[in-house]
Amino acid sequence: MKEVIDKGNIPRHIAIIMDGNGRWAQKKGAMRIFGHRNALSAVRDAIEGSAELGVDYISLYAFSTENWSRPKEEVDALMGILVEAITDEVPTMMKNNIRLETIGDIDSLPKSCKEHLKMGKEKTKGNTGMTVVLALSYSGRWEIEQAVIKIVKKVVDGELPADAINQDMIGKHLNTADIPDPELLIRTSGEIRISNFMLWQLAYTELYFTEVLWPDFRKKNLHEAILAFQKRERRFGKTGDQTKASN
Ligand code: IPE
Ligand code: IPE
Ligand code: MG
Repeated sequence: MKEVIDKGNIPRHIAIIMDGNGRWAQKKGAMRIFGHRNALSAVRDAIEGSAELGVDYISLYAFSTENWSRPKEEVDALMGILVEAITDEVPTMMKNNIRLETIGDIDSLPKSCKEHLKMGKEKTKGNTGMTVVLALSYSGRWEIEQAVIKIVKKVVDGELPADAINQDMIGKHLNTADIPDPELLIRTSGEIRISNFMLWQLAYTELYFTEVLWPDFRKKNLHEAILAFQKRERRFGKTGDQTKASN
């Protein structure tokens, strides 16, 4: 399937809502946490598969602001898995020239997570290949709220004239200031919703939903999503005829 992908039309940024770990485990009669543990091979395949095709950014929704309301044992386990994953994956990222970035309220994470993330980002910051953006304690509304607070503060402090506020400027106050908007969003597990992910950035993103549960997601599923993306006509408000004429 990889062979039929048009290498001239690869999304520059792919965002993924990695959903279905709990149900994957429950189907096997195991604890939800077992599903989170088995999510790592899917993460690896998504990263490797994207890098192979020349994707520049892959954003992975790993823990939402709302996920803090899950049972404490599950939250603790997820944080532990995160630390292990960073420890295991940073050497691979170094080998593959991949840079680690984060978005979200990183300060709200447990100390060991913060330290591991800091180490991972520091170590990989000179890498020039693909960027992996981990969304942790992240939600779109939280991010927009933070941007509004920062902008209002600048206006109040006289650093910014109110009439300088525009869409571009708001974008620069988001966590994703230096990251282009995703062209493709993939959500696994059959749920057809955004769940507070990148609300601003997804304005014109192509959405792709699959029934596959996240721990089962493999390169071929990524390829399927990219092929579906390549069949879409991205019109950005124009007519189909206008779009065809400009291609
Ligand atoms: C996604 O899988 C991982 C996180 C949200 C952390 P879930 O844990 O939401 O799995 P389901 O949706 O309950 O199956
Ligand atoms: C969204 O999944 C968040 C992540 C994948 C990290 P959830 O499983 O938390 O989403 P909802 O609550 O079912 O919409
Ligand atoms: Mg879920």
